[in-house]
Amino acid sequence: MAEQFLNFIDGEWIAGSGSNPIADINPADTREVIGHATDSLEADVDAAVQAAHGAFASWRSTPAPVRGQIVAAAGRLFLERVDQIAEVLTREEGKILAEAKGEVRKGSNLVEFLAGESRRLNGETIPSEMSKTFAYTLRVPLGVVGLITPWNFPMAIPAWKIAPALVCGNTVVLKGAEQTPWVSQLVVQAFVDAGVPKGVLNLIQGRGETAGAALVEHPLVEAISFTGSTEIGHHIYARGAALGKPVQCELGGKNPIIVLADGDVDMAVAATAKGAFGSTGQRCTATSRAIVDARVHDQFVDALVREAGLVVPGNGLNPATTMGPSVDQDQFDKVHEYLAIGPGEGVETRAGGGRATQGDLEFGLFTQPTVWTGVDRSMRIAREEIFGPVLSVLSVDGIEEALSVANDVEYGLTSSIYTRDVNKVFEYIDHIETGMLHVNSPTIGGEAQLPFGGMKRTGVGPREQGPTAIEFFTEWKTVYIDYTGSMRGGNLY
Ligand code: NAI
Ligand code: MG
Repeated sequence: MAEQFLNFIDGEWIAGSGSNPIADINPADTREVIGHATDSLEADVDAAVQAAHGAFASWRSTPAPVRGQIVAAAGRLFLERVDQIAEVLTREEGKILAEAKGEVRKGSNLVEFLAGESRRLNGETIPSEMSKTFAYTLRVPLGVVGLITPWNFPMAIPAWKIAPALVCGNTVVLKGAEQTPWVSQLVVQAFVDAGVPKGVLNLIQGRGETAGAALVEHPLVEAISFTGSTEIGHHIYARGAALGKPVQCELGGKNPIIVLADGDVDMAVAATAKGAFGSTGQRCTATSRAIVDARVHDQFVDALVREAGLVVPGNGLNPATTMGPSVDQDQFDKVHEYLAIGPGEGVETRAGGGRATQGDLEFGLFTQPTVWTGVDRSMRIAREEIFGPVLSVLSVDGIEEALSVANDVEYGLTSSIYTRDVNKVFEYIDHIETGMLHVNSPTIGGEAQLPFGGMKRTGVGPREQGPTAIEFFTEWKTVYIDYTGSMRGGNLY
């Protein structure tokens, strides 16, 4: 029996009012229709926002540490349910089971950390110019917040937005991704089972251009936190500006790994393979450019091509598989468009370059791990986000050229350098234009207690995760108290 994935509004699982449900297809075998997500229209979004609005007064007055305890319980439920959630994640999104379990654990870590922030929603006491006056600041929630999330981390990304939103006292409408409605449901169910009251957390399934857009536009939605494509993020940011609503965006990347002549080439190769082919390259932090000193270029490429040959694409539920499919036909088509553009721009294909079809793979959306050399920084494939298992190698002479190439893109999410020279490490830290940077480790990954996000066109608004996560979900009240009530302390004006 195919499943029906519903909206969650005011404590009830209910169908949307649209008539065009979205098929949830297993990308490892597109003959399998897992189920359908309900189709939501403006009226459904309105119902969800009204429910969240109605629940706000009581949630905001629930003491923050109590809110935090509920959120923390959700993090524990993620761990208790790791096997179930991970299996659904693999079937819907395609990533291999080990990656899916890692994502659930990461989601749990994030929720655990952010729950603790409920006991640190501190303001400051600040000295006043006036005598007998007590001045301080107070963090307060925004109201109803809209969260719009993508399919590539359908568990962790909603979790890392929901947790700080709730801890800070906001109520939430989550619009999950079209491709992963079952995981969205499991994430919300965990928060509900943890004790989040009716109306405080609502889920809308459905399409971006209808349900997502209606959420952005709704007058009772105070702020939008978005992760996804640069195009849609910038569109939502523009709408937010027009409507006077804060917007937080976490968008694309074109993340470089720099390999200098004195670096550990074997470790750099292992890190590059992990970053480029892990999660099928469908991470915002994926490694998509290797910027390699000419003196170690051939050694690096030969070893990387060998690594690419060891990758086993396939159904992620099979323990022998090391790389899953693209999430859906659109993503697969996008990757294969770039696989045609690269050779057209004059690159040399050293590994992969096409569809992987051996055995059962012909029924899934599989791509061979691909390595291109002879890449120039001006090429489209060196500048645009591909979001597939495709790596471009650019040859450079020394750190200055490496940094100039690395920074010559519109994105600035994450990066890495391999070198043993401490001076070059600090030169890199000073000059690289990325929000996160790694020295002698892969571009991917991030810990729950550290800020996550990018510079340049990648990021808008405060960093997610870590202690900065609460910045977007609170605003300040500044309080002056004349405790004599007599203006004896003087008045400023
Ligand atoms: P997308 O940006 O279209 O979708 C992300 C979310 O936004 C989904 O929930 C979608 O329903 C919603 N959405 C779409 N249009 C909307 C609108 N007009 N108003 C409000 N919400 C809307 O991303 P998509 O199409 O899934 O992927 C396209 C490309 O974006 C990928 O190939 C990749 O390059 C990039 N991407 C980056 C991600 C990241 O982690 N930063 C995650 C997913 C995609
Ligand atoms: Mg899209």
